[in-house]
Amino acid sequence: MRKIARIAPSLLAADFARLGEEMAAIDAHVDWWHLDVMDGHFVPNLAIGIPIIEAIRPHTNKPFDVHMMTTNAHAYLEALRSAGADQVTVHVEAYPDPTAVADRARELELRFGLVLNPPTDVEAVLPYVELCDVVVVMSVAPGFGGQAFIPSVLDKVERLRKWVDSRGLPTDIEIDGGIDGSNVGRARNAGADVFVAGTSVFRAPNPVEAIAELRRAIAEA
Ligand code: DX5
Ligand code: ZN
Repeated sequence: MRKIARIAPSLLAADFARLGEEMAAIDAHVDWWHLDVMDGHFVPNLAIGIPIIEAIRPHTNKPFDVHMMTTNAHAYLEALRSAGADQVTVHVEAYPDPTAVADRARELELRFGLVLNPPTDVEAVLPYVELCDVVVVMSVAPGFGGQAFIPSVLDKVERLRKWVDSRGLPTDIEIDGGIDGSNVGRARNAGADVFVAGTSVFRAPNPVEAIAELRRAIAEA
């Protein structure tokens, strides 16, 4: 089943000194905002945190897709909900059995998802897909924006697409990392529905046009 494609720009590539302006310039063209939270431990970097999520919440009505690159995401679900998160995704490498964290997210009326790093086999998430509103396939090593897209992860997107469709599940399939006009069509054909794009949107001369280019490439795929 081919669902409507959604574009989720990643604020990690925005100018943090002008976050409000950077968002306002493209907010009308965005489906979801992708917000990267890191702990300096699960990944060797730090990024956006709860005070930033809270501060930007009044500036948009679009859903906040919070990507937790942390070992203890479960400890922050309530705070993330209060700050304005709509969806929280946690890594299967940090939660080999995500049942408890998924249940807690659901109690808080958060959408929940699992994320897989490039070396992680798709089998790690298959038993838990039914707990997920979304499964996120990383197409770069997590922790940094601006890295090159890893095409071999598209096999995992295809496997997930078949798994979800053959069971009639409503699960979204999201791809995160190095997405631009040159590869987004391949990701669409593999079966992705949600496309995270940081550098290709915010570092483009015209971010609105960059989003339009992604949409065109998806439509032509
Ligand atoms: C990487 C993050 C990504 C990143 C995407 O750790 O999870 O969301 O911001 O940025 P680009 O599109 O620059 O790879
Ligand atoms: Zn991310």
